[in-house]
Amino acid sequence: MLPTIEWKKDRVVMIDQRKLPEEEVYVEFTDYNQVAEAVEKMIIRGAPAIGVAAGYGVALGLLRIEKEENLDEEFDRIYRRLERTRPTARNLFWSLERMKKTLEENKRLSLAQLKQRMIQEAMDIEREDIETNKKIGFWGKDLVKDGQSVLTHCNAGSLGTAGYGTALGVVRAAFQEGKKIQVYADETRPFLQGARLTCWELDRENIPVTLITDNTAGFLMQKGMISVVMTGADRIAKNGDIANKIGTYTIAVLAKENNLPFYVAAPSNTIDFNVAEGKDIPIEERDPQEVREIRGRCLTLPRVRVKNPAFDITPAKYISAIITEKGIVRPPYEKNLKG
Ligand code: MRU
Repeated sequence: MLPTIEWKKDRVVMIDQRKLPEEEVYVEFTDYNQVAEAVEKMIIRGAPAIGVAAGYGVALGLLRIEKEENLDEEFDRIYRRLERTRPTARNLFWSLERMKKTLEENKRLSLAQLKQRMIQEAMDIEREDIETNKKIGFWGKDLVKDGQSVLTHCNAGSLGTAGYGTALGVVRAAFQEGKKIQVYADETRPFLQGARLTCWELDRENIPVTLITDNTAGFLMQKGMISVVMTGADRIAKNGDIANKIGTYTIAVLAKENNLPFYVAAPSNTIDFNVAEGKDIPIEERDPQEVREIRGRCLTLPRVRVKNPAFDITPAKYISAIITEKGIVRPPYEKNLKG
């Protein structure tokens, strides 16, 4: 399976997702600040993968502590640095809260033992994420029938998680059953997760994939070339509204107009029960330069104003079902979504 991120001895190793598909480069970090920067720069991205990185970031930060009396203050510093990185991804906060709870429950250990315990917890988060994704694949695979084509947006695959993927986990599970499936991946401007990452990881496993531009989806739907839409989520509100990569909402509206099912695949730790509805989800604004340029080449006048929200909100009414590791959840989400 694709190694997105892993712990090696006293360091974190991740594949640099900015360099794919041209180069398969692995980067190593020994400092939690480097991990925070890697998340901000999208060396690693995708809500579940960000969650795993945060767990390892905390473990790395604690490894550096020499005196027990500095523990609480240092932990607080590490926590606050990591939580500032990608504000929309629920899994980031879920992971940090879990690491905090583990620390509090294990304070009786010596500093050396505590460090090992925290590394173990971060490794558990990684392992459990892969198990969760396989369960999502198991529940979701029957939603994709033999001969169908699946439109996906962004990359909710191995690279967006610890491995196997959520939306692409469903695709993988259906494909492994022998179903003939065609995936349409849109480019996903501006970071091009679809063109660079989804196509790369599906191609490696010989799962048929066709690349389209972001504005081609509606036309293919009209032509009857799309059977289902399957995406991931960065955060799910209590009422079933979801935040996902910018452009998801547009596709969901198109799917409804064309009577196509629109499915969201995500682990239950993406659900934020403290957020009542989508409008309350914080949406990350990213550097205008990401839109203004492609690979260092300016597309417009350098002074042109740019708006670059990384995510949008898809209201629950457009979502046919949400697939988690616990099963398929259908509306009304307010009643049926469980933690
Ligand atoms: O900005 P990104 O690449 O982190 O955005 C990722 C997405 O929107 C994914 O769909 C989501 O995080 C789920 S990844 C399994």
